[in-house]
Amino acid sequence: MTNAKEKDSSSCLPPNIYLRSLKHYTKMYRRSLEEPEAFWAEQAQKLDWFKIWDRVLEWQPPYAKWFVGGKLNVSTQCADRHAKTWRKSKVAIYWEGENGETSVLSYSTLSRDVNRFASVLKKLGIGKGDKVAFYLPMIPELPVFMLACGRIGAVHTVIFSGFSPQAIADRVNDIQAKLIVTADGGYRRGKIVKLKEITNEAVKLCPCVKKVIVIKRTGEVIPWIDGRDIWLSSLLDDAESFVEPEPMEATHPLYILYTSGTTGKPKGVIHSTGGYLVHSHSTYQWVFNIREESVFWCTADVGWVTGHSSIVYGPLSHGASIVIYEGAADYPTIDRWWDIVEKYGVTILYTSPTALRMFMRSGEEWLAKHNLSSLELLGSVGEPINPETWQWYYKNIGRKMCPIVDTWWQTETGGIMISPAPGIEQLPLKPGSATLPLPGIDAAVVDVNGKELPPCQTGYLVIKRPWPGMLLGIYGNPKRYQEAYWSRFPGVYYTGDFAMRDNDGYFWLLGRADEVLKVAGHRLGTAEIEGAVISHDAVAEVAATSQPDAIKGQAIVLFVTLKKENSPSEALRKDIIRHMRQTIGPVATPNEIYFVQSLPKTRSGKIMRRVLKAVASGQSTGDITTLDNETSIAEAKYAYQSLKKTKSGLGRELDQH
Ligand code: PRX
Repeated sequence: MTNAKEKDSSSCLPPNIYLRSLKHYTKMYRRSLEEPEAFWAEQAQKLDWFKIWDRVLEWQPPYAKWFVGGKLNVSTQCADRHAKTWRKSKVAIYWEGENGETSVLSYSTLSRDVNRFASVLKKLGIGKGDKVAFYLPMIPELPVFMLACGRIGAVHTVIFSGFSPQAIADRVNDIQAKLIVTADGGYRRGKIVKLKEITNEAVKLCPCVKKVIVIKRTGEVIPWIDGRDIWLSSLLDDAESFVEPEPMEATHPLYILYTSGTTGKPKGVIHSTGGYLVHSHSTYQWVFNIREESVFWCTADVGWVTGHSSIVYGPLSHGASIVIYEGAADYPTIDRWWDIVEKYGVTILYTSPTALRMFMRSGEEWLAKHNLSSLELLGSVGEPINPETWQWYYKNIGRKMCPIVDTWWQTETGGIMISPAPGIEQLPLKPGSATLPLPGIDAAVVDVNGKELPPCQTGYLVIKRPWPGMLLGIYGNPKRYQEAYWSRFPGVYYTGDFAMRDNDGYFWLLGRADEVLKVAGHRLGTAEIEGAVISHDAVAEVAATSQPDAIKGQAIVLFVTLKKENSPSEALRKDIIRHMRQTIGPVATPNEIYFVQSLPKTRSGKIMRRVLKAVASGQSTGDITTLDNETSIAEAKYAYQSLKKTKSGLGRELDQH
């Protein structure tokens, strides 16, 4: 861990970013904590409501209900209300397919399509409270369908298009979705991802699914089940052009999004309609300082929360123009993104440190081919951005002229929580720090006993009071909700992250404090990974941990013991990787698998992952006095060193499609 003093250095920053005062921010922040309800009510008034709320907040720990009694509809906020103004002819979405196809949707087209898609859903019997799952590539139909669900009060779950049939089925069964929307395929690095085939496999495991809507993207021949599968195009033939928007209670769920935690099963994070939209709308303005002429590109997949809030609900609620790109960052060449920035005149780019590290590796000559002068603001999300990457981004992409907003948040927080906020005031930046909490966000760093720490000490990041984008709960599992977030430090929200606050009050996010890995920004629980590995026939025991990776931040490594009749081999290693890709998806591809005879355990039988993580990172194992079987460590070290010598690792793909 870098020490606090080193991190405090900000001399590398240009005066225009460093020397602005914090006056406005400080005033706004103070007021937001002193009069939180009045503060958030003012933000909420920026949206259109069918009915104004009776109470801003009902806080019955650990459940927060925002804007109780208020009614609104996300599709009117994100589409209709813009289509009624001059923005009807403004670009809502610039879409670019990986194969070079393009399309442009104006706000009037977006509004019309949302209505027609809502009509399609209604005609299939989908109504308020029903669950709809999306397993789609990054095509404009995805945001349109999300808004169409919102229009009629259906609750959507977007499933990342890199997930396997089993992972899809787990999510669909958990929410008992009646309908899945998929495509015949999608393009990824020049190949077709067979989304319909994968969906068919998944639906075999999901008796709740009655219909599958299929969107034509590739035109490939696909397996078809009559009576269940329907082309979207045929449904649109009979669609109405207007569907009355359902006045939705602010506290009604808008969507459920699955994310990994410390147990084997991903958890369904539920977000509300009103509080979530107020949070996404406000923070999007504060952080990205959006202007009418901005062209905003968030490179995340809609399958993650970043895509929900920063592709769909945040920008579209503002009537912003966004870019959506379907494919891989480096296809057909490593400058594809820079080509897109130039082509669409992107002004705000929001991406991940993993992507930036990949570009850093490829050198600057690719950038020199493109005019990036449209860029005004850069953003980072999903994992800590190391100062070196920050500097590279600032210098090479931002031409030393664009502030970088390093935004900290989570699936559970719904919107951005800690970040510079050029829309309020240009904060002094420090490379590698997400700076200060946004207004209304009461963040703190505490010790193991929940006591707030003095500056420059590392502890656990907590949020001390509810905020509008706060999750409503975990779908079907109130106990897990209570345990995961509210039990470690009673009364405050536990983020699961390590953090440090420096002498200026700036937050430095230092990675996960729990058994959750961040691999290329994707969140994966070690228990979930282990569950997938253990279901392989040859595996007796497994411990999943991580090692630092120059591009992905963290990479998965496995220590595996085999059942009696099996012995380690390259073929088995490959087969375990294949099995993991099939069970979870390519995101779970491990960098290394170490075969050992035994795993280091405490006397009570608990696997010591901390020790294995140290071994896999080539670091000292520290205190091992509670260890039961010391030879297991020597063995793990031996396995690590031998493999390091003999191979450069399997499955080292950045982009794991
Ligand atoms: O560990 C933190 C890391 O990502 C986690 C949340 O992951 P997820 O729910 O997938 O949402 C990611 C996108 C919002 C956090 O607990 N994280 C996110 N942003 C940052 C970060 N770590 C450091 N710096 C960030 N800016």
